[in-house]
Amino acid sequence: MDIKIHRGSLLHFPRTTNNPAANYQYFNDGVLVTKNGVISHIGDAKDFFSITVNQQLLNNGGVVLHKGLLIPGMIDSHAHFPQIEMMASYGKQLLDWLNQYTFPTEKKFANKDYATAQAEFFIRQLFAHGTTTASVFATVHPESVNAFFEVAQSHGARMICGKVLMDRFCPEELRDTALSGYFQSKELIERWHNNGRNMYAITPRFAPTSSEHQLEMAGKLAKEHPDTFIQTHLSENVGEVAWIKELFPEHQDYLEVYEANGLVRERALFGHAIHLSKREYQSLAANGASISFCPSSNLFLGSGLFDIDSVKAHNIGLSIASDVGAGTSLSLFSNQADAYKICQLQSTTIDPFESLYLCTQGAASSMGIEHLVGNLNPGTEADFIELDFMASPIMAQRMLRCTSLAEQLFAMTTLSDDRVVERTYLNGNLVYKKGTNVCGHSS
Ligand code: GUN
Ligand code: ZN
Repeated sequence: MDIKIHRGSLLHFPRTTNNPAANYQYFNDGVLVTKNGVISHIGDAKDFFSITVNQQLLNNGGVVLHKGLLIPGMIDSHAHFPQIEMMASYGKQLLDWLNQYTFPTEKKFANKDYATAQAEFFIRQLFAHGTTTASVFATVHPESVNAFFEVAQSHGARMICGKVLMDRFCPEELRDTALSGYFQSKELIERWHNNGRNMYAITPRFAPTSSEHQLEMAGKLAKEHPDTFIQTHLSENVGEVAWIKELFPEHQDYLEVYEANGLVRERALFGHAIHLSKREYQSLAANGASISFCPSSNLFLGSGLFDIDSVKAHNIGLSIASDVGAGTSLSLFSNQADAYKICQLQSTTIDPFESLYLCTQGAASSMGIEHLVGNLNPGTEADFIELDFMASPIMAQRMLRCTSLAEQLFAMTTLSDDRVVERTYLNGNLVYKKGTNVCGHSS
């Protein structure tokens, strides 16, 4: 039996809630016990070490002491692994950005070795930024999905990925067909879905690059494999929304294109969802689908201001995501900081507990995986990270002047980047330690 005891400050959201600021669990001096990669206990250190055998473990050095704050590994509900190399590409909004930068980059992923090297880089960078689970777009090439899942499995990470379906309005080399896309996806689902910690997402890129026939076949797959995820983009950019009206005149709005093909259901994750009608909000809620708010991407591509109040008013599952490579940081803290600024521009607000919730328990529950990850509850998989609130001189000085946990959390988030992540654990094993090259060793 592999038992590990971690002592430090602990923070998580043990349940799904509309009020994270009133529903967090915090131990200033806490203990987290993992058994064979699963959390078996969370509680107060004083209570834990009042038991003699536990005290002996402490005296014998059998306890890992953490100076920083332990929180669940974060969940990035929307990212593109092939795009990490083209982050920060200048000067275009969505449709031109896709044509000028994205499609030429994604062509390279027909090569399995190239895809493997980039998947390795991307996944290690996720760990370095405190993310332990992500829902990830590969490219149209099945090799890119195989590469991603093989690498994820070699690290023992819980990951979601899918082959992009795209049969029009893109370069020839990135095009599949309604039928080839269906059969390739089906084979990948059979190979990878629930294979170890891997899970599959049916991935039509977005409605403009799929014919009606392809969307219909994607819906058929979704019906045949009801516990797979679906990931796509929705109403990100006003030019895109106008194009949808031209391409699908028979549908009253963007979401209805997906709905008509059976693609709006539980475990369907819609990236962006900025420019929506009341009907679309209502339908997302009624069908149990969820939205990935991608703050740094929305600012970078000038896509618009996400209306978080409408999403919350309709009780739609919500998470915060990086959308790398349109997003400008893999750090979900940095993306939380951008979320706050987007709210400020609309005279609304998001508090630091809520934004952290949307990257942990809230994200997990919007995706239906909260029994696995996203919190520190006993019985869940032991993916967690240690944060250093003194990671930079400016942050350290700011912390000394904070008078509450909320204030500290907010200042850390606002000033943060990957330096705040001190350690990352998967299944109770250390996979990243700042300043070293740790991967796959336990401590
Ligand atoms: N819409 C369709 N494809 C993409 C993509 O790769 N990134 C973003 N941000 N939006 C998209
Ligand atoms: Zn995206």
